[in-house]
Amino acid sequence: MSPGPRLVVLDEADAVADHAAAHIVGKLAPKPDLVLGLPTGETPRGIYARLAGAYRTGEVSFARASSFNLDEYQGLPPDHPASYHAYMREMLFRYVDIDPARTHLPDGLASDATAEGRRYEKAIAEAGGIGLMVLGIGGNGHIGFNEPGSPFDSRTRAVRLTEATREANRRSFPEGETVPEFAITMGIATILEAREILLVATGPAKAEALAAALAGPETLRCPASVLRRHPAVTIVCDTAAAAGIRLRA
Ligand code: GLP
Repeated sequence: MSPGPRLVVLDEADAVADHAAAHIVGKLAPKPDLVLGLPTGETPRGIYARLAGAYRTGEVSFARASSFNLDEYQGLPPDHPASYHAYMREMLFRYVDIDPARTHLPDGLASDATAEGRRYEKAIAEAGGIGLMVLGIGGNGHIGFNEPGSPFDSRTRAVRLTEATREANRRSFPEGETVPEFAITMGIATILEAREILLVATGPAKAEALAAALAGPETLRCPASVLRRHPAVTIVCDTAAAAGIRLRA
């Protein structure tokens, strides 16, 4: 039996970003060729800013690291401002010495999503697998874009986004543009194969999902609940996101 996720609760979102960035630097500095799994969204912005700072001060280098992002919208070209390609360039890649050839995201324009999923899985395997997978969590418990109901043995594939997820992500899109209905995401099995997982959650909108993930039953209805199967998970969150766990405990 694994001891279950290690839970770190901190006062506020800034402290969460500090802690998560220090965790990542602590893994990358002694293992410069680390393969990172990376999330997008609001939550990791502060983490990426701190990683860029750690690079600037010489604390860490990404020169030998590789990265695989969790997901990308289908139909968005890499230069679309709401694409995760653009997000990663703007939040992290342009500020650090990572080799662009070793940064990977699913191709949202691939005409054959099944083939794209296979290609992505193969690229992860060829890189030696993901060493440290950094995750956010959706308000409905999704990880990557694995929405409720996603099979626990799922692999990188095209998925339909829920209305709730599209609504939550609308803020990243230019006024008047619709949020894509589909995305390509690493599967739950892909995520679980990472050697270590760091999940980050902040704010009251994540309280219910986090409580369900940690204290509810392991169920397809809350994809993040499967993380309890993994032997090396750290969850870093603020008190607002942890509020539901306390209520249930
Ligand atoms: C998005 C992403 C997830 C992310 C989650 C939470 O839709 N696909 O990888 O973890 O939803 O996002 P945020 O941090 O913006 O709340």
